[in-house]
Amino acid sequence: MIVTIDGPAGAGKSSISRQVAEQLGFEFLDTGAMYRAVAWAVIRQGRDLTDDSSVADVAQNICIDLAGGRVLVDGSDATDDIRSPEVTQATRYAAANTAVRMHLVQLQQQFGREKDLVTEGRDQGTVVFPHAECKVYLTASPEERARRRVADLASRGVTADFDDILTQQNRRDKEDSSRTVGPLRKASDAIELSTDGMTPEEVIQRLIGIIEQRRASR
Ligand code: DC
Repeated sequence: MIVTIDGPAGAGKSSISRQVAEQLGFEFLDTGAMYRAVAWAVIRQGRDLTDDSSVADVAQNICIDLAGGRVLVDGSDATDDIRSPEVTQATRYAAANTAVRMHLVQLQQQFGREKDLVTEGRDQGTVVFPHAECKVYLTASPEERARRRVADLASRGVTADFDDILTQQNRRDKEDSSRTVGPLRKASDAIELSTDGMTPEEVIQRLIGIIEQRRASR
């Protein structure tokens, strides 16, 4: 069974989807980490982020290993580095690149073959797994997402300004949904879940309920 969880940045998708997969005994795929890994490798190899063919070349020639919650790129551990502000900024060059997307979409589809999978991203229910049995579009208001991001940074000792975070987030939302390839879009058959006012645990339980119901009606 394939479960897709798409939605905007900061809706808590990654940690929630990972825990849902764990509780159900499904494999988990963080597709954002793959786009981040490409951007990380382009920077590390000193290639030009703005040159589409260079970025595609890097994507097609690296090995991304997502086993055990770590992100290994050609054997180097990039788990923490791919979350840095520099890589986060640079990832848009990978995400908007048609050849990169075609390549990563293929890898993602291979990953989902013959496995129970929870996969998380922007285009999982629309482009990568259009026939998935269970599709969720996870969202929250921009203010709530920015508040959570500020709290998350504070818990890691980083002080951030709410308005700055909200502005950056609005820019990413716009980039994500206006991309010509693989834009962020709710699949017509996805269940939309707005998580405003819900705790992560409540969201996890709601998602498990939705998935179990789908599984029972197959
Ligand atoms: O979910 P995230 O913040 O780790 O995603 C990083 C970037 O990758 C973000 O700018 C959106 C992009 N992305 C994408 O284009 N397609 C996906 N399936 C997942 C992420």
